[in-house]
Amino acid sequence: MRERERTVQAIINGIALAYSDTGSGLPIVFLHAFPLNRTMWSAQEQALSSQFRVITVDLRGHGESDAPLWRYTLDQAADDVRALMDHLSIRQAVLVGLSMGGYILFAFYRKFPDRVKGLVLADTRAQADTAEGRDGRFQMAQVAYRQGPAAIADLMIPKLLSPASISSNPELVRTVRTMIEGNQISGISGDLMAMAERADSIPFLNEIACPTHIIVGELDQATPPSDAKLMADRIPGARLSIIPGAAHLANLEQPDTFNRIVAAFALELSKGKQT
Ligand code: MLT
Repeated sequence: MRERERTVQAIINGIALAYSDTGSGLPIVFLHAFPLNRTMWSAQEQALSSQFRVITVDLRGHGESDAPLWRYTLDQAADDVRALMDHLSIRQAVLVGLSMGGYILFAFYRKFPDRVKGLVLADTRAQADTAEGRDGRFQMAQVAYRQGPAAIADLMIPKLLSPASISSNPELVRTVRTMIEGNQISGISGDLMAMAERADSIPFLNEIACPTHIIVGELDQATPPSDAKLMADRIPGARLSIIPGAAHLANLEQPDTFNRIVAAFALELSKGKQT
């Protein structure tokens, strides 16, 4: 029987991190995109927690977690996830990261490969930012500072959702906007700096030795299918799924397909089959 969902905060590396821990079985830890929060995984939590232990976390700077005004790095986010797993007595998990969540997974795998049972890299990319991309991050941080999170929502929503979702799914647009507007400027700008500074993970891809599944929305323009194919070509044994009709937030736009892919991957791993 499915356990009741628990939403709690734990003190992790000196700050309060909010997380949900639902269900039992093989743990799957979900890391959200920028600038959202753990509720972007609601459909995954609902669908998968009857079979697996599903953990979602508001990363430092997001949602109900603390957003200190300080330097943010993706290594630090990876340390937070590792410390949360320790707190929950989880030795190994399947880790699913979408976009910024995927960038954090590269940092996590570099530091703690033995804690990873399998990786799902969704709508993400291995390349570092270009100089132009880094400039864009600093400009966006200025927008956050001067105009607040609502202006960030205006900028980000067309990058996150497909034109069809934007024109015909106002509820989804509202959900995404609410997540973005719930963040603090310190967290938004902290993430932007962290992403701007992230390492190029391309040379590291062939060192990823765990089972890996790559997912991308066919309409994703932020991290397009060509980025996903590059990762699939270089990570030994990686599989690739391209989800029709989805853009960057593939898990929100096509949740059933996304859930089927993650469930099949985790099920194989829980049965000890090599994927
Ligand atoms: C995300 O969805 O996490 C962001 O689009 C990532 C990025 O800005 O590179």
